[in-house]
Amino acid sequence: MKLAILSNGNANYSTKRLVEEAEKRGHKVQVVKYKNCYLSLDDKHPDVYYKGEKLPKFDAVLPRISNGMTRYGCAVLRQFEMQGIYTPIASVAITRARDKLRAAQILAKYDVDTPKTLVSRNTSDIDDLLEQIGLPVIIKLASGTHGNGVILADTRKAAKSALQAFYLYNEDGTNILLQEFIKESAGTDIRAFVVGGRVIASMQRQSLDDDFRSNLHKGGMGTPVKLTDEEKKTAIKAAKAMGLHICGVDLMRSSRGPLVLEVNASPGFGIEKVTGRDVASKIIDYIEHNAPRRNGKDRIGA
Ligand SMILES: Nc1ncnc2c1ncn2[C@@H]1O[C@H](COP(=O)(O)OP(=O)(O)O)[C@@H](O)[C@H]1O
Ligand SMILES: [Mg+2]
Repeated sequence: MKLAILSNGNANYSTKRLVEEAEKRGHKVQVVKYKNCYLSLDDKHPDVYYKGEKLPKFDAVLPRISNGMTRYGCAVLRQFEMQGIYTPIASVAITRARDKLRAAQILAKYDVDTPKTLVSRNTSDIDDLLEQIGLPVIIKLASGTHGNGVILADTRKAAKSALQAFYLYNEDGTNILLQEFIKESAGTDIRAFVVGGRVIASMQRQSLDDDFRSNLHKGGMGTPVKLTDEEKKTAIKAAKAMGLHICGVDLMRSSRGPLVLEVNASPGFGIEKVTGRDVASKIIDYIEHNAPRRNGKDRIGA
């Protein structure tokens, strides 16, 4: 199989592992730095060029697109989708997952349990919103990532002034979500790595200081954790709702059961080191199984 990995390069641990695993099985792998690709917008030949050369017809494309490059990365991926090349992670699923408001709407539509969430753009609504959500409250920027853009406001005054500032200076920018604070598990969350409708690895993340955010990028620490059946089912349901066959589902353990925080379209591979599970090999297994069946059948994109 000829496999393209859309990535920022071989220096990423995840990319290195995927290349290693695919090559071990005799596949031909090309790491394509999507940032440096250019695209030919011709309906009969939606080609992708890289370093001055047209890229060959791949059997599968695996996107590992970073948050800061979602738009261009997905445009490159769409180009491959227009060629009918199989991808386990569709561009539309990535753009949906990267917008917390859109993702929350999709999860609600498919009846996936999440913390209670409200969205508004008007200062005059703030009292009403806080009345409904209660305090403390989580304020989230729809486009935030790595824990940046998530605020915990303890008091009505703090929440109100933060929201007023956001509404005022963010006229046409990212949307702002107000979310119920899940205090039972503040400072911890669970990452369930889902591949092809199965949880293949799971870890708990714990912030090491008094931060309420448990992101590893914020200094959180991961430990292996065994999920309950309900947690597994919730993670799988969330992955399915988002249309992401390979993803990292973040859950919080709450007094009313597991709640989904978000579904990550390019989950990190730090979970391999924490759990000892071979995530890369499960992903290559999945692609090996699905690419021959789906190739040419999923002419989607654009
Ligand atoms: N509603 C909430 N209640 C309690 N903690 C939360 C809540 N939402 C987020 N957190 C904490 O903040 C972290 C980051 O939030 P998340 O929504 O995953 O944004 P990001 O995309 O920046 O990771 C979570 O991993 C969790 O530890
Ligand atoms: Mg997160």
